[in-house]
Amino acid sequence: MRNDPIGVFDSGVGGLNVLYMCERLMPNESFIYLADKANMPYGNKTSDEIRAAAYFCADTLFSMNCKAVVIACNTATAQAVDDIRRLFSTRITVGLEPAVKPCYNELGKNGYAVALVTEATYFSPKFNRLIAACDGKIKAAARPELAELIEKNTADIGKIKPHVFSILEEFGDAESIILGCSHYTYIHDIIKEFYGGRIKIYDGAIGAAKRLQYCLSVSDMTARGATKTKTRFYSTQKMPREKTCVLRDFN
Ligand code: DGL
Repeated sequence: MRNDPIGVFDSGVGGLNVLYMCERLMPNESFIYLADKANMPYGNKTSDEIRAAAYFCADTLFSMNCKAVVIACNTATAQAVDDIRRLFSTRITVGLEPAVKPCYNELGKNGYAVALVTEATYFSPKFNRLIAACDGKIKAAARPELAELIEKNTADIGKIKPHVFSILEEFGDAESIILGCSHYTYIHDIIKEFYGGRIKIYDGAIGAAKRLQYCLSVSDMTARGATKTKTRFYSTQKMPREKTCVLRDFN
């Protein structure tokens, strides 16, 4: 059990950064990555749709004998982590939270931060509770088109720079930006460029990796010995004219 892999999933490429952080922090662990491309984007879906998609991913990964699952997606965490924990109560599930608290704690007296999120995160009670505890110093901005735009342009991310700049114009005097969607890691450098480097950018990926490490340790499930296997990659794919989707194996 302790040398079984850890499953990581997102709607697409966003969670790869979370996977990277986990692999760096836990070099002895084995990983399986699942990109739920058939259901991308999660951010524009209803709560029921996101919960169904997240359930499918978690179930698939646990069925592949994963000892833990990381929901490497802010949207799926905001909408579905409680369900997943309840339905797989004997397993370890770690979510990805926007780094609102660390950002709030480090804000200057008159500064404010902007949490960039998807629509489904923006309207989730979980995210709203987080923001409500920050005395109005964290503004939230939902961008329904951004994650998909990033997913389609990772090979040439500079192409979407004008679009990202136009989003940030409204927040030109922000002190910090919170990347509240795992896809937004890909525009980290564009954000930095917009603010001439003076902005602090917060990303929840490292927090999720540390949480996973902690959960494995307290459940005595940390891998032992040199048993690490090569990371395996899967994605879901819609079948034409059918409602079901299939798993694609990239290994
Ligand atoms: N990557 C997901 C997140 O962290 C959302 C992207 C999508 O809308 O599918 O919120």
